[in-house]
Amino acid sequence: MKNSYKNLKFINGLLIVALCFYALSGCKKAISKKIDNDVLIEQKVDSLLSLMTWDEKIGQMSQVRHFDDIIDDDISSKYIGSVIHTQGPTPGKDAADWQARFVTLQNKALATRLGIPLLFAVDAVHGQNTFEGATIFPHNIGLGATYNSKLVEEAAAITAIETQATGFNWTFSPCIAIPYNEKWGRVYEAFSESTALTSQLAKASVRGHQGNLSDKKTVMATAKHFIGDGSTDFGVEGGNTTLTMNEVSKYLLPPYHDAVAEGVGSVMVSFNSISELSMHAHKELVTDTLKIGMGFDGIVVTDWKGYSRFGANAIINAGVDMVMAVDGDLDVFQKGLKAGIVSKEVSQQRIDDAVKRILRQKFRLGLFENPFPDPNLIDKIGCQDHRDKARQAVRESLVLLKNENNSLPIDKKTKKIVVVGEHANSSGLQSGGWTIWWQGTQENYKGATTILEGIQGTSEGLVVYDESATEKHADADIAIIVVGETPYAELFGDIGDGNGTHKLTLSKIHQKYINTYADMGIKTIVVLVSGRPLVVTDQIDKSDAFIAAWLPGSEGDGIAEVLFGDYNFTGKLPHSWPKSEEDFKSKYGPNFWDTSITPLFEFGYGLHY
Ligand code: BGC
Repeated sequence: MKNSYKNLKFINGLLIVALCFYALSGCKKAISKKIDNDVLIEQKVDSLLSLMTWDEKIGQMSQVRHFDDIIDDDISSKYIGSVIHTQGPTPGKDAADWQARFVTLQNKALATRLGIPLLFAVDAVHGQNTFEGATIFPHNIGLGATYNSKLVEEAAAITAIETQATGFNWTFSPCIAIPYNEKWGRVYEAFSESTALTSQLAKASVRGHQGNLSDKKTVMATAKHFIGDGSTDFGVEGGNTTLTMNEVSKYLLPPYHDAVAEGVGSVMVSFNSISELSMHAHKELVTDTLKIGMGFDGIVVTDWKGYSRFGANAIINAGVDMVMAVDGDLDVFQKGLKAGIVSKEVSQQRIDDAVKRILRQKFRLGLFENPFPDPNLIDKIGCQDHRDKARQAVRESLVLLKNENNSLPIDKKTKKIVVVGEHANSSGLQSGGWTIWWQGTQENYKGATTILEGIQGTSEGLVVYDESATEKHADADIAIIVVGETPYAELFGDIGDGNGTHKLTLSKIHQKYINTYADMGIKTIVVLVSGRPLVVTDQIDKSDAFIAAWLPGSEGDGIAEVLFGDYNFTGKLPHSWPKSEEDFKSKYGPNFWDTSITPLFEFGYGLHY
């Protein structure tokens, strides 16, 4: 049968000659190279599909982890279509090891009857953040604050290179949610509460990640989570949204239109429901709106364990093409879908459509010609050029909320500066969730610089570090207090009723850091490290200058460049900023629907010095 595929290659060869002849004959100059290529890919997809058994088709629709769910031989015996990596155990100690691990798995796939290559996916959501030593960009909320599409495109292109360098060809990014409630634990994964800004940056991100898709420096992007992830009632991860279809269409769908127009290769369906119907099983939105209405011809992938959690074959019928079959779901999915095909619960056309979409993206990525990662890219991981770009992103993401008496910029010759707060001295704390580990880390990690190191490297005077404001340096001229949230991801960051780990306000300890130095009459500059706007009205009052720094990532020293006047502030708020916890009593976030709420700072606010 392998010969059949070789025949297919021969037929494709003939087809190329025919198309070239057609184009050369000059009769249709308007047929671009791209269209020729698309036609060719469709031919290849159809030919390959016609050779596939049901088991091979179901296998293509299966995505597994590269550890504990499977043994390596499952890749061939279960005809797996894709492998994912989200966090440890890591595939090896360095990037060459990671590549080698994925080459081993790729060879298992290539050894199958039809030799269809694997897609390797990773949650590289702010740089290749699962690899220690990679360049880690500010989380999307910080990129949103830059309002700079070019920069977002460049950041995505760098992320793509470092993602490929560690062996992947697909990223689960960008998250293009529109968060309407700061209580949601994933606000920072999204660019903004503004539909228009999200659309603009979504396009840039897809362009940067995907480039021409097949050159080994780019990866397939994923627009996620379709749809309503950020607009669940009370900001509950995976909850229900009571937005009407008109509201969904007006406020949430435009960034998807733009991502699709930009050619995004995949869309991940969301954990939440809309009017109590799970998005995984929402045929009207997944098939009618996304696939037919927007013309999306890429892969719709489930979220974690989507098959067993959200309706089994109902999700395939709704339009899901690939299943994240993890944590014991692989057999459940493969057997369940096969039974569904036999019983005609799922139509053969639906399966063929799903498999065609997967094969199409594999052809577009050039995986049939070259399924392996490029070892020459390894040197690019965390290289200076990449870090310089990430530092630019840090600088541009900072939003100056208050600057009384021109407290900023700080004179580099200031005699004594005291820096306070554990967030100043930890690259893990400054980076948020999805950094090395799913829930982030509180430790320093390889290659990163801290905010404190930046201040120490820039100041020409004495810099002392008083981690928990206990030393009380009364002779300091300036106190830089770095406070904020500890890392979290997904539901662990939800605030809910406010009795859990994370709150809308600063911890009492962090409030004390600010009060200690402000009450001593020392000029107090607060840098807030957080994945969302917090209710810090009193702390802003207390301070002389206040900066929203979001989650800057690995280049913490970029903050000092702005504090000390090498660069001015240019960042603007990507969210309106709440003034009180009362603002959150209503269903949604500040300044939306409930027009009686006036935010402390409007969307787009940001000072310069
Ligand atoms: C998250 C996705 C992520 C996936 C794979 C899910 O729990 O919701 O955003 O891409 O896991 O790690």
